[in-house]
Amino acid sequence: MAKKTNNVTPWDIQGEIDYQDLAQRFGTRLLSEDILERMEKHAGREHFMLRRGIFYSHRDVDEVLDHYDAGGQFALYTGRGPSGPVHLGHLVPWVFTKHLQDIYGCKLVFQFTDDEKMLIREDYDAEITSHWVYENALDLMALGFDPDKTEFIVDMKHTAKLFSIALKVAKRITWSTMRAVFGFNEDSNLGIIFFPTMQIAPCFIESERSGEPVPCLIPAGIDQDPYWRLTRDVATKLGYPKPAQIHGRMLPGLTGNAKMSSSMPETAIFTSDVPELVEKKIQDMPTPENRVDCLAYLLHYFLLTESDEEVNELHHECTVNQRSCQECKMELVEKVNKFLLAHQRRRKLIGKSVKRMLE
Ligand code: TYM
Repeated sequence: MAKKTNNVTPWDIQGEIDYQDLAQRFGTRLLSEDILERMEKHAGREHFMLRRGIFYSHRDVDEVLDHYDAGGQFALYTGRGPSGPVHLGHLVPWVFTKHLQDIYGCKLVFQFTDDEKMLIREDYDAEITSHWVYENALDLMALGFDPDKTEFIVDMKHTAKLFSIALKVAKRITWSTMRAVFGFNEDSNLGIIFFPTMQIAPCFIESERSGEPVPCLIPAGIDQDPYWRLTRDVATKLGYPKPAQIHGRMLPGLTGNAKMSSSMPETAIFTSDVPELVEKKIQDMPTPENRVDCLAYLLHYFLLTESDEEVNELHHECTVNQRSCQECKMELVEKVNKFLLAHQRRRKLIGKSVKRMLE
């Protein structure tokens, strides 16, 4: 098993992640019983991702809840770097974000950082990224977000919406801070050094538009945290409210790599995968060194199986009844394919509405 590590940036994760340690080093707080109870009360039920600690850490969620309880509204903000097809890991924060939109009835600002992908990938151009923006937007909306309460911001298309805010942000961040937070060096291209200000800008867009402070809550994987640490300092300097975050764990890749990632396609299940390919990828998964690290189980736990009873049953079958990995894999193939088929069907129905949203 790889060594546990804290080396987590938006572009790179090495080895296995120690989530408790990461929260401590990033200076975030673990979600308290009090916050979980309040969210359960608002929702009328506890979301399985909160109950299981998949969303586990935060900054200022308590303040956002106070604001909501006092009758105020807040905005949700999250996004995607449209570099290729969406995989099951990306769906984890989005399923949770959809839950938040449902409970709190709030607007979601969803950013596509096509500029980021242009800047870090040699082989990408505007045509390729705009293809993936559309494909990824279908995946997002197929999860059931309310189109009337969801705004897409595609950086290269809607630059004007962000640029003036990004400039204000850029003016208050120095090169030495960027280097320390993101690990940039003398070989980093100029564009990628500026880019984080574009990802920060949507945190403030609703405040800027309404002329009064609108709190913003960011549900996302913890790999995106470097942006928010930086944002919070800048917010104070610019007189905007500090954005709040709720952080998710990363769904590991099929070979046990710390994060399922598009850049290792053989270790990821994409929403566009056909049943035969899903079967091949799952059959090729290595047998875990011990039954606790089982990837098949984690896929159920993170995304596919909401019922605790079913998840516990799987665990029991594996650890107590010593069920064979082959049996679990066959069951997983069936479950993933059923999930994907329903998702792919929903994607087909929403093309027109998604195109309109991207205009
Ligand atoms: P991107 O496209 O790398 O990831 C999109 C979202 O998916 C999460 N994620 C995962 N979550 C669980 N398990 C995984 N294996 C996994 N892989 C990715 C990420 O944490 C993220 O929440 N620059 C950003 C796009 C962006 C953004 C944002 C993300 C723009 N604004 C605001 C979050 C919040 C990016 O490339 O994300």
